[in-house]
Amino acid sequence: MNRVSKTTELVLRNIEEFRRHSLLVVDPPDSHSVTRLRAECAGCRPAFLHRDYGVYKESLTASDDATSATFDIGFSWPPQGYDSVLIYLPKGKESLDMTLGLLAASARNDVEVYLVGTNRAGIRSSAAVLSRWLEEATKLDSARHGAMFKARCFAHETGAASPQDWEQIWSTSPRGIQLTAVSLPGVFSHGRLDAGTAYLLEHARLPASGRILDMGCGSGIVGAYAAAACPESEVEMVDTSALAIASTRRTIEANGLKNARCYASHSFGNVSGKFDLIISNPPFHSGTDTDYRPTAQFISESARYLAPGGSLQLVANRFLPYQFILRDWFSRVEVLFENRRYRVYRAMEPTQRLQGSRVQPRNRRGGAR
Ligand SMILES: C[S@@+](CC[C@H](N)C(=O)[O-])C[C@H]1O[C@@H](n2cnc3c(N)ncnc32)[C@H](O)[C@@H]1O
Repeated sequence: MNRVSKTTELVLRNIEEFRRHSLLVVDPPDSHSVTRLRAECAGCRPAFLHRDYGVYKESLTASDDATSATFDIGFSWPPQGYDSVLIYLPKGKESLDMTLGLLAASARNDVEVYLVGTNRAGIRSSAAVLSRWLEEATKLDSARHGAMFKARCFAHETGAASPQDWEQIWSTSPRGIQLTAVSLPGVFSHGRLDAGTAYLLEHARLPASGRILDMGCGSGIVGAYAAAACPESEVEMVDTSALAIASTRRTIEANGLKNARCYASHSFGNVSGKFDLIISNPPFHSGTDTDYRPTAQFISESARYLAPGGSLQLVANRFLPYQFILRDWFSRVEVLFENRRYRVYRAMEPTQRLQGSRVQPRNRRGGAR
């Protein structure tokens, strides 16, 4: 059997807690965890609320029970309700705050809440956030470099029942185009324009028309800029995060953009056809080292989604060795602009010989972001 995450190991040590309840699991970290929890907790028929599309799709593939999982941001699901909730600690305190606030506002009856996470992700300091929304918070267990808390949620009015209550709305005007952006906690660069993204918007070269893909759209600011700057284009914005998709849809709405749409996709999973421009401040997953394998994978796949004459344009910390990866997959790679921190790359003309094969990650280390 595949290994589950350390956090799921910690949950499995305490599985007796869950067997008596109808259980909702929020943000399971991987599909192996879903499979194990389904097997170990069969009697309580756990339901899974996913906010990561990649894990959601993988879990669906691993199971024939599509009715017990959803990809969403709220707690109005599952329709039959639940009397205990297991939450995997999300990234960032604000995101946990929103998760608990939405739960407290929408739970139909009193529920037992379990929160599990690693020390590295900040589980120790999350007890204070738990106490803000829930009662009787206690530490249930600590092991595997992590901890698990238990608390009770008494359904009550919180004044923060809808995701919109958690939004931040901000403005920016790249190259003089006035835009409004909306973001939820947990979304990259929540409430402000990231410096790297700002650099990309200042220097990207947009086609006058055609299809544009914003990969990893976050709050949707890159795609919104492209749609507003090129009204003749059709812009598609994708992200793996449910919070990002909800934010981007609100950004599209806030700017009245008729030529932009957003949908869930883990990398190119749900994307079809060819694009005249693929633009991105690409995803990073970082621990202590920057891990650029997801970006390397994204670059290699982009080569297959470009229309003739199309380009991939991305911004990256200048110390990251992306030009080497880009050159593996494209014949023409140029630095459009650079400053002390960032580079904006443009890559064109995918190399034929490598198309269709999977990327072999290079064994080079990137600098910290
Ligand atoms: C660096 S952020 C950029 C967000 C936004 N474009 C901006 O510039 O503010 C990268 C985004 O990629 C998304 N992401 C990470 N892995 C992904 C994947 N495999 N497929 C699609 N999106 C992904 C993250 O959720 C995040 O929103």
